[in-house]
Amino acid sequence: MRHSLDHLLQEVLIDEATLRARVEELGEQISNDYAGANNLLLICILKGGVMFLTDLMRSITVPHEIDFLSVSSYGKGARMTTGSVRIDMDLKAEVIGKHVLIVEDIIDSGHTLKFVMEVMSARQPASVRLCTLLDKPSRRTIDIKIDYTGFAIEDKFVFGYGLDLDEKYRNLPFIGVVKPGAVGNV
Ligand code: IMP
Ligand code: MG
Repeated sequence: MRHSLDHLLQEVLIDEATLRARVEELGEQISNDYAGANNLLLICILKGGVMFLTDLMRSITVPHEIDFLSVSSYGKGARMTTGSVRIDMDLKAEVIGKHVLIVEDIIDSGHTLKFVMEVMSARQPASVRLCTLLDKPSRRTIDIKIDYTGFAIEDKFVFGYGLDLDEKYRNLPFIGVVKPGAVGNV
């Protein structure tokens, strides 16, 4: 039996079957777009992108490498990115000459991904594109081009399927909306 989520979960926003179907579609689209590429590198942004990456890569038929990048934002509260981002753990893989696809859980203000895209672009890849499971367009403060989006969602704080609530609940197989008042109070 699952530990009760009643005090945290307002509603299931995207259920498991819907996630699976959309992630498969994205994988097919990516496979078509990179058909013939022999140097595709998927870069997962830790930690939130992990579950998305492992599902997405199963649906990508083009041979590829994976690697992981951990970044954090200074002064980040539950709901705000102030704009200064730093690398906590860098890639092991070389980026030069590769087709880089960044795999992220959610794009909110856009600060984190703008930083990541700039850092990767400076390493002379053959190309850099961005794939995000979730997008909150109404929260954007920085213009950023997203190449693949799983779902555009409203401005609600969500968790599960890789996304955390105070570092927990990343294992939930669905995306849920947090009950008002529960953020920062888990
Ligand atoms: P940005 O730099 O403001 O775009 O923030 C992106 C990061 O904020 C994501 O990688 C997430 O870690 C985190 N984030 C933004 N919105 C949510 C949410 O609703 N739930 C969980 N994490 C979120
Ligand atoms: Mg996070």
